[in-house]
Parts: sequence; structure tokens; C-alpha cells
Amino acid sequence: MPTSAPFGTTTAGTEVQLFTLTNANGVKASITNYGGTLTSLLVPDKAGKLGDVILGFDNVSGYQSPEYLKAGPYFGALIGRYGNRIKGGKFTLDGKAYTLATNNGPNTLHGGKVGFDKVVWQAEPGTSAEGQTLKLTYLSRDGEEGYPGNLNVTVVYTLTADNALKIDYTATTDKATVLNLTNHAYFNLNHDAGRDILGHQVTLPADRYTVVDATLIPTGELRPVRGTPFDFTMPHAIGERIAQVPGGYDHNWVLNGATGPYAAATVYEPETGRILEVTTDEPGIQLYTGNFLDGTLTGKGGTVYGKNAGFCLETQHFPDSPNQPTFPSTVLKPGDTFHSVSVYKFGVRK
Ligand code: BGC
Repeated sequence: MPTSAPFGTTTAGTEVQLFTLTNANGVKASITNYGGTLTSLLVPDKAGKLGDVILGFDNVSGYQSPEYLKAGPYFGALIGRYGNRIKGGKFTLDGKAYTLATNNGPNTLHGGKVGFDKVVWQAEPGTSAEGQTLKLTYLSRDGEEGYPGNLNVTVVYTLTADNALKIDYTATTDKATVLNLTNHAYFNLNHDAGRDILGHQVTLPADRYTVVDATLIPTGELRPVRGTPFDFTMPHAIGERIAQVPGGYDHNWVLNGATGPYAAATVYEPETGRILEVTTDEPGIQLYTGNFLDGTLTGKGGTVYGKNAGFCLETQHFPDSPNQPTFPSTVLKPGDTFHSVSVYKFGVRK
């Protein structure tokens, strides 16, 4: 069974816990019920030495500090009800117009002012045939942040015997709504957690990406990556062409697989030999290279998180899908069950 330990008290006065899942290889994943946040993940390097590859804090107060809330990086958190952006915080569903809380310029980002990353989830540690598990549940009430319908969300984290962290999402609603659930872990596969990730080599099996406007809202165009700095169909270091992308990578790639689960990303760090392989049944993946980190946050072990201190691979439906009729639908209807699985598997190349 996973272990559990106090993780501090939230500013609202709720005591939260840190659950640690362990497998036979000594791999450990720590998750708090505050925001369902993955706070650390110890995985081996090519010499078999375990190291933490996740950005975060060692107490809930780190995730609630004024600097953290101002920066809004969403370290390791579960994201909902709608991951990524919705244009102008508005959408129409079944002829009815909805207005959401906006929190990112004119747009709604990652669920609004109080998204799923900032709520306390019910937690149930357990064990399945695959490994140790943490089941997290949350009821997002009708009207929360402007979204329609009472949405019951269950997320199960499983640490498997082959060093994978599997994240299984299910949700049901009592009124038609939109949803886009993901996890916002920042990874850094280096030995030195304070070193940037520009040397990490990324492969994305995606021939197209969603072009965005100045506020990072998709224009609707799915543009071929070929011949551009967005082409990761063969491995490229993150830093190789990042200077050609104003602001850095913060885009959604259209995954080539027709139906999942399929390979969504591979990341390799040559010095440690660590490899991260992501698979998902979601149609898209956001590669975000920590462009907005600026050294104002200090995390676990006194590590200062500067620009490009970590990268996120957010498996998802495309941003602003509720306003883009040609994108895969993010609508969930009463009587239907949303189900999606993403897997983050760690290995080494010697
Ligand atoms: C977004 C970024 C944002 C980051 C942290 C990413 O998913 O695409 O624009 O800065 O999350 O909030």
C-alpha cells in the first residue's frame, strides 16, 4: 500500500496529505490530495541511481504562496475542468451561452480562478494488479467557474512494475458540459535539478500543430510542422531551434495516431541516459518549455526555477475546442462517461 504523511495545512485550514507510491525497483511517486498534485518522482539514471525528475515543493504552502499564485505555473497539478485556454472565457453549448471566470488576459486558462489544481480531492490509496494506486475524486458543482453541470471526476494514479506512472481519468455529468483533463507535471531529467532542459531531445509523432494568435488561442489552422522548428518527428534538442519560436515552445501538437493509445512523445537526456515515453488516447499534446519561469520560485532542495527549468507534456484535446467546431469534441453529455488514459514511462539508454 502507498504510505501517507502530512503535507501541511492549506490557507483555508484543511490538512492535506502526501501519498507515496513505490514499486519493486525503488521508484517512488509522491502525490498530494491538494490539486491531485504530483510533487516528486524518483526514477533511475543509466547507472541505476535514483533522482527526482519533477519540479515542485515539499509542503502545501509552496503551492499556495503569493509568488506561486502570481506566477501560476501549475506544477504537477491535475488540470480541469478545461485544460488550456478558452477564448474570451465564452462558449455556446446546445444554443446556450456560457461565461467563464477569466484568468489569463482575456481568456480562461486551466479551469479558471480556482481550477482542479487548487481544490482538495478525496483520496483513497490502494493496490491493483498493476501496482500501488491513488484514487482521487472531486465533485465540480454546477456553475463552478461558470461551467454547467455537476461533474464527478475520478483520477487514478498507478505506479507500475515497469516504472510507468499511469493516469486514468473518468468523469460523468448531469448536464451537457465541456471538459479537458490533464496533468501539468514539469519534468527535468538532468542530474542537476537547477539546470535548464534545453539539451533534452524530444520526439513528437505529430505532422501538424495548432497555430495560435498572440493570446495563445488557436486560429483553427492545423499547420504542417515540416521544415519548421515545430518538426519533432525526428529527435531534436529543445534548445536547437527554440530561438526561432517567439516566447519558446507553448503549443499543441496534433498527434498522428487515429485512435489510442499511441505514442505521444519521447524525451531523452544524454548525460543521465534517462528516457521518458508518453502514451495517450488524447488527440493532442502541449509541449510547454517553462518559458514563463523566471527564477522567482525556489522549490524542493532549494532549487531555483529559472527559465526553461522544466518541460510539460500535457496530453489533451486541443485548446479552445468549445469554440472550434472542426476540432475533436470536448462535450460530455449526461449518461455518457468520459474516460482517458495517459502513461509516463521512464527508462534509460546506456
Ligand atoms: C500553458 C502556458 C502556461 C503554463 C503555466 C501551459 O499549459 O500553455 O501558456 O504559462 O501552462 O500556466
